[in-house]
Amino acid sequence: MPKLASLLESKLPEETVEMLRTAGDLAASGDFGAGEAYLVGGSVRDLILGREPKDPDIVVTGNGPRFARALAEKVKGKVSAVSQFGTAIIDSPQGRIDVATARSETYASPAALPEITPSSMDDDLKRRDFSVNAMALALRPESWGDLLDPYKGFSDCARGRIRILHDASFQDDPTRILRAVRYEVRLSFGFAVDTAEALERDLPYLDRLTSSRLLAELRKLLAEPVRADILRRAETLGILGAISPSLRATESGLKTMEQFGASGPETDELLHVASLTSSLTDEEADAVIARLEPDREWQAVIRGAAAFRDVASVLESADLLPSDVVDLLEKIPVQVIEFQRIAGPKTHQRDHIEAYLRRHSKIHADVTGDDLADQGVPRGPIMGKLLHELKIARLDGKVASRHEELELVRRRLPMLLSRERQGTDQPTGAAIP
Ligand code: CTP
Repeated sequence: MPKLASLLESKLPEETVEMLRTAGDLAASGDFGAGEAYLVGGSVRDLILGREPKDPDIVVTGNGPRFARALAEKVKGKVSAVSQFGTAIIDSPQGRIDVATARSETYASPAALPEITPSSMDDDLKRRDFSVNAMALALRPESWGDLLDPYKGFSDCARGRIRILHDASFQDDPTRILRAVRYEVRLSFGFAVDTAEALERDLPYLDRLTSSRLLAELRKLLAEPVRADILRRAETLGILGAISPSLRATESGLKTMEQFGASGPETDELLHVASLTSSLTDEEADAVIARLEPDREWQAVIRGAAAFRDVASVLESADLLPSDVVDLLEKIPVQVIEFQRIAGPKTHQRDHIEAYLRRHSKIHADVTGDDLADQGVPRGPIMGKLLHELKIARLDGKVASRHEELELVRRRLPMLLSRERQGTDQPTGAAIP
């Protein structure tokens, strides 16, 4: 059994090593509901690969939540969540620590959530997705740093291979199809032959996933710095088409996504959604929304590509007033407009978009609804019309100060009031002198 104590001690921050030693001591004492304690999953993989591990995951045999409360006390943290699956989260001064009870999982049917039974460490590793994620490092003092590696994850790390642990792995949990491609690209690995075959064969199982699980996995994918490469690979493997026949990644969309990503890790997720869905028609957007059931913001962005196409030809005209441009663009999500600024043609359309993003979208009248009420304007449609006219007049440079705005109100108000009395009406904007 390889001993990786020196890896643990040299690659992790000192406080994390201390915390892991404390966890091992607690387990060894046998008093806190745990027999064994291990560092597991992504942290072990990343340590072996020389990558910076994220927050540690600890698995104990016995009672995870009870153990978590004891560990939290020792590291001056707090247990912030406990689940019915025997997992707990500790918020500690060094960051988040996940603690889980070792468990085995059985799937009643493909893609169903697993049934869980507390179990041995071997069983806990057996339920995992890929060999490189199915390793554990022992934390008890007498076995500190011993590697538990029943599925030869260490050798797969060295060979750069993503390998499932059994033939039905993708059927049990089709989110693993997306996870597989995410790790493959993130780690610059390749698939083991059997894994590649199983993935291709089991693509139809993606259909069985609930929208919420699928969407959560897609969001993890979009959070990766190498998201565009992952999507490129997912497209080639037929994964996007298996999620929804309408979903596809285009080269122009992916290139733009890369540019957005280059601006830093905090890029708005919706910019990536706009890039991914930039080629969808109205019907395709509806189909993707029906499959993913995302929130309203996502829906607006997914529908935004088609909405933009409706106004694109008008934006090619050289002589549009700022208010025309605002009229065309204000109902389209800003992320879709940002996408078009980069991916669209360098024509008048680009000039209008840049002026809109830099100036027009930020212009508002100084006069507010309360100011209008002070001038005797009744709240309701007339006030709405006046506010709209004021904004247009500001945009097109017909008024340049609060004083001129109030002048405009005084000129327009009698006409609007008398029209209302006569029950006649006119479209807004057109009648501004
Ligand atoms: N896991 C799994 N099947 C899944 C999800 C998770 O087997 N569908 C296991 C893997 O062993 C994984 C661990 O649970 O390593 C933790 O999952 P997660 O936090 O999603 O992944 P990490 O490996 O920590 O990877 P990342 O670096 O992406 O955080």
